[in-house]
Amino acid sequence: TDTTEIRKGLAGVVVDTTAISKVNPETNSLLYRGYPVQQLAATQPFEAVAYLLWHGELPSPEQLRAFRAEERAHRALDPAVKAAIDLTPVSAHPMDVVRTAVSVLGARDAEASDSSPEADLRKSVRLFAALPAAIAYDQRRRWGRDPIEPREDLDYSRNFLWMTFGEEPHEVVARAFDVSMILYAEHSFNASTFTARVITSTMADLHSAVVGAIGALKGPLHGGANEAVMHVFDEIGEAAAVEAWLDEALATKRKIMGFGHRVYKSGDSRVPTMKAALDTLVEHYGAQELAALYDALEAHFVARKGIHPNLDYPSGPAYRLMGFDTELFTPLFVAARVTGWTAHIMEQAASNALIRPLSEYVGPDERQVPGA
Ligand code: CMC
Repeated sequence: TDTTEIRKGLAGVVVDTTAISKVNPETNSLLYRGYPVQQLAATQPFEAVAYLLWHGELPSPEQLRAFRAEERAHRALDPAVKAAIDLTPVSAHPMDVVRTAVSVLGARDAEASDSSPEADLRKSVRLFAALPAAIAYDQRRRWGRDPIEPREDLDYSRNFLWMTFGEEPHEVVARAFDVSMILYAEHSFNASTFTARVITSTMADLHSAVVGAIGALKGPLHGGANEAVMHVFDEIGEAAAVEAWLDEALATKRKIMGFGHRVYKSGDSRVPTMKAALDTLVEHYGAQELAALYDALEAHFVARKGIHPNLDYPSGPAYRLMGFDTELFTPLFVAARVTGWTAHIMEQAASNALIRPLSEYVGPDERQVPGA
């Protein structure tokens, strides 16, 4: 065992093959089923991207129509899930609420114990369709407002914003939200997706794997970073305060949320597309101060450390401008990533091997229990 090489954090370890997405850090590119994510974000609605991740091909117009009809049919929130959400205090983090909601959805799903590929796909679509209602319900109760029923005449993103804010979103807002969903949908063997695959590898059910993935996504080194970015912005306050704040943060070896990535070392492929969407929101809302703070922190941090922003850096401010509470940002990531997670769950199940690595023991040598 002296010769065993330990790769902490599985850094650089290739664990399995996948046909779902390809991250190429050399060219800063990200492909979903072969398609550049920037091109998908520019031309496709999120529903078509979800379909692509699950089926491997973009839908034809008829396939998209049928898929949208299926999604719309499952939007309404199960009263039992509402009751479960109501049982959680508003002091609980919204990620704990969405984790609980998915757990209840799984326990009540008529096909819970059927892990056939057909049933897993149906469950994935139902979960995808129900998550916006659960998240919007939680957001509105935190505001002390009544829930809003889904609208079948609106697409996924417009309906999500409708159920949250109670008004039809401006085109600019709907588009930026849809782009964020597409960019968040999938990213190969990240920590939460790997968690979902580990759970699936034991032949546990799809909802169990998604619940575990939500737990992994919550942490600030992963999905929790989009929320954490906004806390940093609030702490700094204004662009003029960035330099002094950064001096102090770097002196105390703080991790600056929204920067850095395990795989990309010279920039995140998704950032330019999300930054362009954020720019349209800045213009729409007249949020120049926020934009100045964004630019100042990026410029100073890149100059000092050479570490680039990741997707959470532009998406945090984008969700703030849209009007979501800061704590709701990571649940929005859940709504998007559930597509990638479930695609990976089905891929893992289709060619399964139990994921069970080894460890090198470094505890005490064998010794006698006193009195034995
Ligand atoms: N702020 C300050 N220093 C950093 C940062 C950062 N955001 N990111 C990396 N570094 C430093 C790190 O301290 C280390 O320095 P040294 O060699 O002196 O110890 C060096 O860069 C290498 O970093 P690392 O921690 O070994 O890199 P990693 O691959 O383990 O970490 C990361 C990747 C994402 C955990 C890390 O960059 C980080 O903590 N970033 C902040 C949290 C964040 O934004 N997460 C979102 C990730 S992407 C999208 C998502 O999943 O939501």
